Amino acid sequence: MGKIYAVILAGGKGERLWPATLALPKPLLPFGGNGRTLIKATYDRVLPLVGKGNVYLVATRELAELLGAELGLPREQLILEPFGKNTAPAVGLTALVLGELEPAGTMLMLPADHRIDDEEAFRRALLAAVKAAEEGYLVTLGVRPTYPATGYGYIEGAEPLFEAEGFVVHRAARFVEKPDRHTAEAYVSRGNFFWNSGIFVWKFSQILEEIHRHLPGLAAALAELKSHLGKPTWEAALREAYSRAEETSIDYGVMEKAEKIATIPVSFGWSDLGDWHAIWEALRKDRENNASVDVEVFGKDAAGNLVFSLARKRVGLLGVKDLAVVDTPAALLVAKRELAQRVREIARGFAEREPDWTELYKLDRNGMLEVMENFPQQCREALARGREVILPRELSGFERIVVVGMGGSGITGDFLGLALPGVEVITVRSYVVPRFIGEETLLVGVSYSGNTEETLSAFLDGLRHTRKALGISSGGKLAEICQKQGIPWIEIPKGFQPRAALGHLLFTLLGALEGLGLQAEGMDEGLSILSRMAEELSPRSTPNRAQGLARALQGKIPVIYGAAGTASPVAFRWRTQINENAKQPAFSAELPELCHNEIVGYELAGELFPQIVRLFLRTSCDHPRVALRVEVLKDVLRRRRLPFLELHGEGKTPLAQALSLLYLGDWVSVYLALLNGVDPTPVEPILELKERLAQEKWEPMG
Ligand code: PA5
Repeated sequence: MGKIYAVILAGGKGERLWPATLALPKPLLPFGGNGRTLIKATYDRVLPLVGKGNVYLVATRELAELLGAELGLPREQLILEPFGKNTAPAVGLTALVLGELEPAGTMLMLPADHRIDDEEAFRRALLAAVKAAEEGYLVTLGVRPTYPATGYGYIEGAEPLFEAEGFVVHRAARFVEKPDRHTAEAYVSRGNFFWNSGIFVWKFSQILEEIHRHLPGLAAALAELKSHLGKPTWEAALREAYSRAEETSIDYGVMEKAEKIATIPVSFGWSDLGDWHAIWEALRKDRENNASVDVEVFGKDAAGNLVFSLARKRVGLLGVKDLAVVDTPAALLVAKRELAQRVREIARGFAEREPDWTELYKLDRNGMLEVMENFPQQCREALARGREVILPRELSGFERIVVVGMGGSGITGDFLGLALPGVEVITVRSYVVPRFIGEETLLVGVSYSGNTEETLSAFLDGLRHTRKALGISSGGKLAEICQKQGIPWIEIPKGFQPRAALGHLLFTLLGALEGLGLQAEGMDEGLSILSRMAEELSPRSTPNRAQGLARALQGKIPVIYGAAGTASPVAFRWRTQINENAKQPAFSAELPELCHNEIVGYELAGELFPQIVRLFLRTSCDHPRVALRVEVLKDVLRRRRLPFLELHGEGKTPLAQALSLLYLGDWVSVYLALLNGVDPTPVEPILELKERLAQEKWEPMG
């Protein structure tokens, strides 16, 4: 007998649990008992059976990373889908990947977010199912119905096959779709119809064979995909495979058609927790049958209500019965509990008011979307241009680089530091440079316009201490100063917003510095990731991940976290891009520093600022102790029910990871601008401030 793998499947919109599922995916809702999330409860209950190393999670990347972090699963135990396509492709993919590791293995397929009362019985039933799977059956646990449910599919049990672990394994005659009330009553009275729990057990080899038989599109896609296992071509091939595969559930696509299926009738107390009524049923109630989570309730003549608040508000109930009251920072639901099944209609009603992206694109009157899409191209051209620049040899032999620049230009210095890990790069955003600067410092003045007074002032200040200097701009006074003082000046194209010209500023500089013997690390990797992301995130791929993130941040206050030395400059860039493009407040903070102050503010955060969403930007180069701190912080946030998101950089090098996160953030900020109903390009307040200052005569020191 091969190894047993528990595969937790997460997907599904959880529409009937609106609005909570707007804020958190259903598996992260805190209904798992003992303060646990649903997925944690799922994980804990299967762990004694398979052990930590054999629990896998299959979901789309973002969801898998979020849920994997909740469980502390290593990345190797996440099976990433390129996009959701119902359960059949997910099962096929899992069987292919794990079947390669353990061809004789068996898979327990567990939905991430169900309730099970008798966990011991549940594990024994799974062991019985494994025995049936060994006999070549596709097995499903069939729950003995406790009422004529119309919300579940049913399985008709046929003759008994054998007994194991105290359960009787039956051949399954057929699967039937959700019945109407009348049919459901007939099923329940017959006694041999069971609810389809969605918990399946089969051998990898068996399910792949059945997929081959019943889902030819998926089977062909998997066969092609197999040759890409473990290769760099995997992700592209997987995307292709998913596009070719049938979009269907494993129940409908395989189980309903397969011949050798078995079911094990169970009654260990099960619910798919599909709606607020089911959640109410699962929770402990007070004397008036009110159930609540994360909320202080005070009721008078109130009974049978469910109250849940992600924002941890106090809720008063007066004279109301059998309601579901669900509060989140973004939306509030008040519904009769008996109508819980219909909450989907509300969710869809709001969803139909979803943005019409094609209409929204019209707000981009100044072409920011096009500039965004061309960013990888901008970087490549800039690199080529930079490589043609010949810098005087006298500039070499420095110990550090000090970059002076503000706003969209200043970020160049931060990224220069990431690209040149062997060189100390300090970015100065001020009127003056630090006193330590001397001839051993290469001073770089970066200003897209060439006219920013702080940059000019700091540059001139720096020139009094070192003559190893160069300027980069599209023109302006910086060009004049350089020409007058005989300092090398690099020209970059005009016509951009400074923040949209980062490719020109950074890559031209990197190309030029190669002439001084400075070789950046990770440029090729970074550029190829950027090109792929341009495809994935552009308006041509609507809807896409960046648009999804923008929607998650709409009406919120993003607070973006990154680790010092790796993602911190990217967090800063996210913040400034959200400010400038989307015209909304956003903040950033640096790890580990924020662990020494900001976290204390979590205490009242939920109450005072429920709109805050924290975003962890992570790279594999973060200090291991910082990575650990992030895990602890996430726990703290979860305990306080404070929402957060987590995003990982792509690639291996620090530069590639930072660039991938930066580019994602740039797209998010532009889409957020459109959702906010504004043109991302203009930055009136910055211009106004510059104009007002220009009226006050002042000459930068020189
Ligand atoms: O994005 C912007 O427009 C600003 O942040 C500018 O970059 C900032 O004001 C500095 O101007 P410049 O980049 O022209 O030096």
